[in-house]
Amino acid sequence: MGNVNVEFKARDPSPDRTASRCLALGAADEGELRQTDTYFVARRGRLKLRSQGGLGSELIAYSRPDATEARESTYIRAAASDPVSEALDAALGTTVVVSKRRRLFLWEGVRIHLDEVDGLGSFIEFEAVLPDAGDLETARAKVTRLRSELGIEADALVSVGYADLLLDGPRFLLGAAAAAMRNAYAPYSQFKVGAAVRGASGAIYAGANVENVAYPQGQCAEASALGALVTAGETAITAVAVVAERLEVCPPCGGCRQRLSEFGDASTPVYLGPTTTTLGELLPGAFDREALA
Ligand code: THU
Repeated sequence: MGNVNVEFKARDPSPDRTASRCLALGAADEGELRQTDTYFVARRGRLKLRSQGGLGSELIAYSRPDATEARESTYIRAAASDPVSEALDAALGTTVVVSKRRRLFLWEGVRIHLDEVDGLGSFIEFEAVLPDAGDLETARAKVTRLRSELGIEADALVSVGYADLLLDGPRFLLGAAAAAMRNAYAPYSQFKVGAAVRGASGAIYAGANVENVAYPQGQCAEASALGALVTAGETAITAVAVVAERLEVCPPCGGCRQRLSEFGDASTPVYLGPTTTTLGELLPGAFDREALA
């Protein structure tokens, strides 16, 4: 049987000011922790090993909807030791490692986290732990009150976890695209391209261009990556990356803009080397499903 938390997350541009406000509310300052979360490929929900230095490690299986408002998370915690990480990595594979410095406050059964996450920046999180924070309704009311007391603006709210933010960001996707690019088969153009897309499940699919002596039979890297996505049973993407060996910013060809648009939407980020754009910017006025309706 799992436990339930009511959770809420936002970007926090001024953690020092937030810390003062927490103290002013009477929250207890529990000090700082260094946490490393290693995420493994999971068939259902999420699975992470949390290592906290001298405080030991635990394995946490959880599921939580992606939403900006306060949301319920169901989780199971199990004591673990760090070697578990090697076993899980060997058997399942690691998706991402999230490292952060966490300053912890406690207020009426609600854990307030001021997190400085490597590669992402500063965030604030509330975790109202049931039943310490009361019943579900009371816990939700406490989170709503904290949000207004700490002055968290609507545009700062974050609907997904740190692991997702990292995986959807440029670093991982560009890395996956670059790894695919190294295997590109481009003996005719000598123009190696790699692409990676992130599926809605969180998994990343990469592909390279595959050329042919009968030139029109060649396939772009984006098409290879999308083929891997669909072969794995997915039909929605949340981010795209494209890299080329000989071009710092490789704009996807027209056909690939259309291919990518089939599985993403206008706001889907597209990382082209150091540049970030969106599918909507790459293909304005796309021919979409409404045209067929
Ligand atoms: N190419 C891609 O893989 N993706 C693009 O979006 C642009 C072009 C490949 C196709 C061909 O193998 C080589 O780059 C030169 O056109």
